[in-house]
Amino acid sequence: MSDTEALLERRYRVLGCHAPLFYDRPVRLVRGQGVWLYDDAGRAYLDVYNNVPCVGHCHPHVTDAIARQAATLNVHSRYLHDLVVSYAERLTATFGDPLNAVMFTCTGTEANELALRLARFHTGGRGVIVSDFSYHGNSELLSALTSCFETPEPFPSFARAVPIPDPARDRQGRSDEELADAYAEHVRAAVNSLQADGVQMAAILIDTFFANEGLPDRVPGYVEKAVEIVRQAGGLFICDEVQSGFARTGAAMWGHRLTSVTPDIVTLGKPMGNGHPLAGVITRRELVDKFGQVANYFNTFGANPVSAAAGLAVLDVIEREQLLLNSKRVGAYVREGLERLKNKHSLIANVRGQGLFFGIELAHSDANATPATAETKRLVNAMRERGILLSRIGRYDNILKMRPPLVFKTEHADQLLSTLDHALSEL
Ligand SMILES: Cc1ncc(COP(=O)(O)O)c(C=O)c1O
Repeated sequence: MSDTEALLERRYRVLGCHAPLFYDRPVRLVRGQGVWLYDDAGRAYLDVYNNVPCVGHCHPHVTDAIARQAATLNVHSRYLHDLVVSYAERLTATFGDPLNAVMFTCTGTEANELALRLARFHTGGRGVIVSDFSYHGNSELLSALTSCFETPEPFPSFARAVPIPDPARDRQGRSDEELADAYAEHVRAAVNSLQADGVQMAAILIDTFFANEGLPDRVPGYVEKAVEIVRQAGGLFICDEVQSGFARTGAAMWGHRLTSVTPDIVTLGKPMGNGHPLAGVITRRELVDKFGQVANYFNTFGANPVSAAAGLAVLDVIEREQLLLNSKRVGAYVREGLERLKNKHSLIANVRGQGLFFGIELAHSDANATPATAETKRLVNAMRERGILLSRIGRYDNILKMRPPLVFKTEHADQLLSTLDHALSEL
C-alpha cells in the first residue's frame, strides 16, 4: 500500500467513507503559491478551480497580516477593536448606500441563515423562494432548501423552488424579454401558491450569477422582474454572493451589479479571507438596528481581529494588483480561447460565464443535445492527470467549472487552453 493509499484509509476510518474528495485519484496537496498547488511528490498543478484563495494561494500580504495580528491579539468579537471597525468601514464602502452595514459570520451558511432571519424578522413572513437547482449552505434550514443535490431534510412547505432561464437550452426561439417574462411568471406562480397556503413572503434567495445552477448566460431583465414580484408581495431580495462577489465576474466588485436591482441583503463568504474563515451579511443599517433591538446576535469568531486583518489584506491586494481589471481582461481572453476550442471540438455545446468564472457545456450533437455527463467526468480526471485542477457543475454535471484565483494571467490561460485542447482530442 502506497503512502497516499494509507492516508486515504486513515481518512475513511476517521472521517467516514462519504466525506467528499475531488477526483478518482485524489490529489494530496502540501503547498500553494499564487495559482499553483503542489503535491507531496513536488508536482505542480495549475489551479483553475479555487475561488477561495482569491488573491492567490498564500499571498504574502495576507499571510503576513494574519501572522502579525495572531501574534498581537485575537479575541472574541465583543471587544472594541480598530481593525474590525476599519474593515467594516472599508468593506461597506465598496457597496455604497443603501448597503451601508455589515454583520460578520464565519461561513456562507451562517451568512445565509442570518439573512433569512433578518428577512423573516422584517417582513413578518416566512415564505422563501430559491432556484430549483441551488445550494446556499449546510444548516438544517438551508439543507432543506437545497435542490442541487439530495439531502435528508424534506423541502419545506414554506418554500418554493423556481426554474431559472438557461438561454443555451431554454430559448426555443424566444427573445430575451420573452424569456425573462416567462421565467418571472414562475416566481409569480410561486408567490401565489405560497399565499394560497397562507404563507406570506419573506425573501427570494438567489445568486444572480447562478453559479451552482451552471453559469447560464444572463437574461437581461429576469432578476429585476423576479425581485419586483417578490417585493410587491412584501418579500426582500437576498443576493447570495458567496461565489460571485469579490471581483469574480470581472464586471464589478459585486455580482448583483450585473443586474440593475439593489438587493436588500447581500451574503458573502468563501473568498473574503482568502481561506481564513470569514463571511458576512451586508444590508441597510436600519435593518441591523431594528433586528438588534430584539435579537442579541453575536458571532464569537466572526471578524475577530485576525479575521479582520485577513479581510483588510484581501481588499488591499484586490485594489493594489487591480484584480477586478485582471478578472475582466483574462476572463475575456479565456472566453475567446474557449470559443476557438468550441469550433474544433463538437462535444463543446456552448461557452458560458464571465470574468474569471467560466465554463463549457459538453453535450452530444444529437437532436436533444444529450448532456455528455460521463465524458465531462472523464475530462475533469484527465485534466487532473495533466496537472490542471478544475471541476464540473450543472443539472447534468456536464458543465466544466473553472474559477481560478484572481491572479490568473494569460500565460496560465494559454496552458489551460492547450491542455484542454489535447485532453478533448484524446477523450
Ligand atoms: C452559493 C453558495 N452559497 C453558500 C455556500 C455555503 O458556504 P459555506 O460552505 O462557507 O458555508 C456555498 C458553498 O459552496 C455556495 O456555493
